[in-house]
Amino acid sequence: MNNKVAVNLSGPAKTMLSTLYLKALDADFARPVLGDRFAKDAIAKLDFDWSELEITPKWAPLFTVRTAQYDIWVREFLAAHREVTVVHLGCGLDCRVFRIDPGPDVRWYDVDFPEVIALREQIYPSRPNYELIATPATEPTWLDRIPADRPTLLIAEGISMYLTEDEGIDLLRRFVDRFGTGELQIDFFNWLAIKTQKSQSLVRTSGSTLYWAVNRPQDILDKLPDIRLLAAANFFTASTYSRTGAGMAALKRAMALIPPLSTSLQYHRYAFGKPV
Ligand SMILES: C[S@@+](CC[C@H](N)C(=O)[O-])C[C@H]1O[C@@H](n2cnc3c(N)ncnc32)[C@H](O)[C@@H]1O
Repeated sequence: MNNKVAVNLSGPAKTMLSTLYLKALDADFARPVLGDRFAKDAIAKLDFDWSELEITPKWAPLFTVRTAQYDIWVREFLAAHREVTVVHLGCGLDCRVFRIDPGPDVRWYDVDFPEVIALREQIYPSRPNYELIATPATEPTWLDRIPADRPTLLIAEGISMYLTEDEGIDLLRRFVDRFGTGELQIDFFNWLAIKTQKSQSLVRTSGSTLYWAVNRPQDILDKLPDIRLLAAANFFTASTYSRTGAGMAALKRAMALIPPLSTSLQYHRYAFGKPV
């Protein structure tokens, strides 16, 4: 008998299957970038034809470099503050809460569409100080369910591009206004990545559409002048890029000839409120 959990997703919610699968493939590499054994366990629990995603293992670093970079930044935030809240938006089936394994002073929320959260509930255990919020990111009241009594980190990885610019800026504005002090750790696609979206298998196989392009941190600072840039990197300048192998070095040389290509994946980190 097949005890696996059935998966029936489409659109943006489906894209997290690709990122999960690539993390599982990375875990089996001789030199993994992320080394996420939880992702490997997770895919074994799902009843899904992974070949449908048209995934080539060599592209795993395009996502694991990002996830590993944000893991570093999340750990830095946790190390700098004692009692904090983490809001992990567009969590998909990512296992960050298990990889980081925060202590009892950290309150952690994983947030995604209801159909994604329903899958999480079936394949992952619960843990203390950990809650799931099933909601579209654009729903105006979900932030009210999170107490605003501590420095709060928004980690939003791989979700901005599915929002329009107005939706994304409005969400960041509401987050900053509600929590007062904290960080925004969020990645973006630049104009070229948005323009060439049909060439991306993750977008094609999910039937998603990408909207919001951000080319540099100033694009965000122009809209939210009260936040401060802490760090910005792209795929090739991320500290975790050094964990990739020769294939990515060749890609870097080729893409260096076309600057908007080499800067298409943008990883940003901002602070807001008074420094603590
Ligand atoms: C590319 S996946 C990334 C998942 C995860 N962050 C990772 O890196 O593995 C995008 C995720 O964002 C979620 N997402 C996209 N648009 C959303 C929205 N409007 N509201 C809530 N979640 C959304 C999708 O359901 C999906 O889980």
